[in-house]
Amino acid sequence: MCGIVGYTGNADVGSILVSGLRRLEYRGYDSAGVALFAPEDAELTVVKTSGKIADLSASMQEELPATKHFSSMGIGHTRWATHGAPTEANAHPHWSQNHEIAVVHNGIIENYAEIKAHLVAKGYTFSSETDSEVIAHLVEQCYQGDLRAAVTTALDRLTGTYGIAVISVKHPGTVVAARKGSPIVVGLHDDETIIASDVSAIVSRTKQVVFLDDGDIVTATGGDVEITTTSSTPVTREATLIDWDTDEIEKGGFDHFMLKEIHEQPAALATGLRGRLDETDGTVRLGGLRLTPQDMARIPRIILAACGTSYYAGMVGKYYFEDFAGIPADIQQAAEFRYRNPIIEPDSCMIAISQSGETADTLAAVREGLMKGATVLGICNVVGSTIAREAGRGVYLHAGPEIGVASTKAFTAQITVMAEMAIMFGRTRRLSAAVGRDMVRELARVPEIAAAVLEREAEIKVIAEKYAQANDAFFIGRGYMFPAALEGALKLKEISYMHAEGYHAAELKHGPIALLDEKVPVIVPVPDLPDKVKTIGNMQECRARKSPVIAIATEGDSDIDAHCDDIIRIPRCHEFVAPIPVVIAEQLFAYYVAKARGCEIDQPRNLAKSVTVE
Ligand code: G6P
Repeated sequence: MCGIVGYTGNADVGSILVSGLRRLEYRGYDSAGVALFAPEDAELTVVKTSGKIADLSASMQEELPATKHFSSMGIGHTRWATHGAPTEANAHPHWSQNHEIAVVHNGIIENYAEIKAHLVAKGYTFSSETDSEVIAHLVEQCYQGDLRAAVTTALDRLTGTYGIAVISVKHPGTVVAARKGSPIVVGLHDDETIIASDVSAIVSRTKQVVFLDDGDIVTATGGDVEITTTSSTPVTREATLIDWDTDEIEKGGFDHFMLKEIHEQPAALATGLRGRLDETDGTVRLGGLRLTPQDMARIPRIILAACGTSYYAGMVGKYYFEDFAGIPADIQQAAEFRYRNPIIEPDSCMIAISQSGETADTLAAVREGLMKGATVLGICNVVGSTIAREAGRGVYLHAGPEIGVASTKAFTAQITVMAEMAIMFGRTRRLSAAVGRDMVRELARVPEIAAAVLEREAEIKVIAEKYAQANDAFFIGRGYMFPAALEGALKLKEISYMHAEGYHAAELKHGPIALLDEKVPVIVPVPDLPDKVKTIGNMQECRARKSPVIAIATEGDSDIDAHCDDIIRIPRCHEFVAPIPVVIAEQLFAYYVAKARGCEIDQPRNLAKSVTVE
């Protein structure tokens, strides 16, 4: 949510900031800006626009005098509006009153109104409606010759969350950045430093990064980096080597990141399984959990917490933990978790699921779980992310960077990881070696099952185009297909803006069936499983109301043919694996509906990839 880039060094700062912001655009994309420094006149120049990074780049071409040389430091921002509309005035960076200091900010300053009133009384004037602008004026007010000290004092007065980067004309070549609740990563490279809100803005220049902890303040000048705490004590943070390739954050010939990421699923799932499956003992090895068989055997309850697509993955996970391990499991909306004062019994295990590892509500749930004494495990994709670090144990997805705002490969990787965990927990309980072996063998087939759905892409496209102009759609399913239906509906509304609802197949008749008619397609995942007869009954109920029915059914299962208008075929597989091919089919369906409707697939309106505000 919002992206920050800061640079100090000798390279062309404008182009570094713009290329970093392009990488971060998936985090927020309603307005953008940069602040650049011209050493010859010791002045900052700020260029801002509403709109995307391409608009910012065009404004920079127009507005920056070609004769002026910008170098040594700069900061940039791409915004997802919270306080104030996405206008040029509200875009970051924000100036201090004397135009000597510029600030970019991610997060929310909760006491900004109070601080603003205080600053206005002191004669400061505000030119935006944002909460962030108070930081710039406050740093100016606290400044007594030391930029880091001014930032430290200013931050002490703020309540809320922030990731910030600050520059000042009085400190050429220095960028000060800080974090509390909103990530800041510092890229180390010879005699330059690049600071950003996530590593994707950094990896093209360096793979050596330091993740700041909450309360850290970094002062970087060229290649010199010093990290201090809020009490100005120097601290050491270990550098991490990022194993992402620049290729992985390019579209690689696909029209959209989303399509590329859908296609990456066979490889991503294979990576997440590699070295983990133990066919001999019918179990799985996940070292990052740091749990002994005794620990696992004692878990009385599992609480899963997540948001968005990760929440639906958690619903599938709940079924796995109950079905394979016999452990009662609950999935909770992370946003509700800490406000509900949840009951956490001794030895309970909490699993936080988050692709980005930065979602504010999920992070808050992790902290609540840790405080209440749960064993907290993180299932994250982004290595070194806050949830992964604060949970301290868990499993990485290893799905590679996910840039498309609508989550795809993370979902299938998350449920694969939870199936692995459930088998591992189950083997310390009633799950026999023989059944464990069957499940492990089935999991090993997951990449090939995913690849088989991708081969159906052309057929799915034709069906998607047929229904692309509908205003409403329903997705219904039962058992493992219920969360798959919810995720299918979410994908469709996120990127195509078609109103779509996911329901349990049996629940439709308790209200929503009133909405069905020939204009409302119903998508029904109905693999060849024992409960399919019941779902076929629900399909008939829909057709009786003239709704077109699109089935997602098993290859070769002709029982479905007479009960639907169109069929998307998925390979035959075990019930627990079926959500993977079904959801991949739904992802492709949503993608081609959105494409036919001319939508901006990778950056849907109003959404952001990583939601770091409550
Ligand atoms: C945002 C994204 C969703 C994602 C959700 C949770 O809303 O647009 O695609 O599912 O956040 O994100 P997380 O990173 O915690 O999985």
